[in-house]
Amino acid sequence: MKVLIIGSGGREHAIAWKLAQSDAVTRIFVAPGNGGTAGEAKCVNLPIPGGDPAAEKAQKDLAAWARKEKIDLTVVGPEAPLAAGLVDRFRAAGLPIVGPDKNAAQLESSKAFAKSFMEKYGVRTVRSKTFIDQISAIDYAEEHFAQDNPPPLVVKANGLAAGKGVIIALSQSEAENVLQSFMRERTLGEAGRIVVLEDYIEGREVSILAAVSSIPGKAGGTILPFVSARDHKRRFEGGRGPNTGGMGAIAPVPDFTPAIEEDFRRAILEPTLRGMEREGMDYRGFIFFGLMIREDRCFLLEYNVRLGDPETQAVLPLLKSDLGELCLSMLDGSLGSFSLQWESGAVCAPVAVAGGYPSSYFKGNLITIDREELAQTGAQLFIAGATADHVVTTGGQANVSAGYDRDLYTAGGRVLAISAWGADEEDARARAYKAIRAVRFNGMAFRRDIGRE
Ligand code: GLY
Repeated sequence: MKVLIIGSGGREHAIAWKLAQSDAVTRIFVAPGNGGTAGEAKCVNLPIPGGDPAAEKAQKDLAAWARKEKIDLTVVGPEAPLAAGLVDRFRAAGLPIVGPDKNAAQLESSKAFAKSFMEKYGVRTVRSKTFIDQISAIDYAEEHFAQDNPPPLVVKANGLAAGKGVIIALSQSEAENVLQSFMRERTLGEAGRIVVLEDYIEGREVSILAAVSSIPGKAGGTILPFVSARDHKRRFEGGRGPNTGGMGAIAPVPDFTPAIEEDFRRAILEPTLRGMEREGMDYRGFIFFGLMIREDRCFLLEYNVRLGDPETQAVLPLLKSDLGELCLSMLDGSLGSFSLQWESGAVCAPVAVAGGYPSSYFKGNLITIDREELAQTGAQLFIAGATADHVVTTGGQANVSAGYDRDLYTAGGRVLAISAWGADEEDARARAYKAIRAVRFNGMAFRRDIGRE
């Protein structure tokens, strides 16, 4: 089976690593990939002209290339190409692809669409209201902050905003400033034209990744949840400092108890599936439930229509089942009878970032990795913002590189994750922080409390 993976982050490296373990998978192309996927077994990077898989021309070229190469399975990592209709284009060309179509991808690409879906199908969520004009939004914020002890107000830009579209306003004036910036000044472009204002709730965040198979006209849709995970979004220990793309993850989450899991199934997963089926959504792909747990009850904060990053780097090393077979079962509608198997124990995956991240940081620093020391810990590196000499394709012919025989250089803020398995969460954490000593680059920084916060 020839596989194409779209994306260039640590999540895509983890997907490639796991798919490479599948006997049925013979070759994996990662477009555009990174320094880690360039060195992964069975993998070769496929540059995307222009670099952006959400761009129309790139999508057209990718579909044409996939047809010519007779790609058997495509897996899409990030949200932007999904929101831009990559799945629709591939399906129209008869190419098997894992991901929601453009309509279903609105569960992430439009916060207003997602909230209205949750309300319509009784998915437990937090009170919110959608606004298309700034004056009404300001009036609502004023009423909100006039209550006794009002909670903060979460201002969410409707569209995709690369992690910059959600701001927690602690006061009326803060809310007004954000609304001015999103709706009037359009600092996020079209993404901030519409906003959702949502009550802030305290609690503990949990991410549930899952496989979905909801095929229009076919009964027996399924959502198969994975082990729970927790991302640590803030830059510094103790959940302080600016938001980042994710400073590390653990899986499973010890405080996601069986009782809470049951609540999640009943209050969130089942109504979501019902809604997908009633709406006739074509959703054959991964989904991410962003949950807040308060007093043992789950509230859905958001859907993402893809696997989470860095949660994937903690969850996939625990997956015993064959990821290629799982993908095929989402596509042919047999997911309901797929038996998902997990390793015991836990994985802790701290992320090493470039000094200065999430503000400005240097790129191009050499990464040194002591392979022997790393091997002793059994930890796996998932590369994100780092490049090697990419293997390029010429005339459809690709060279497969073997092993990490090239130097890697930093090329992004989040450089790599160190995913370590342990008998339990504590053990996994100890191993991850031992393994991280095998990696060095100028300015390297990481949080020391992944899984503890
Ligand atoms: N970890 C959250 C995300 O992938 O957006």
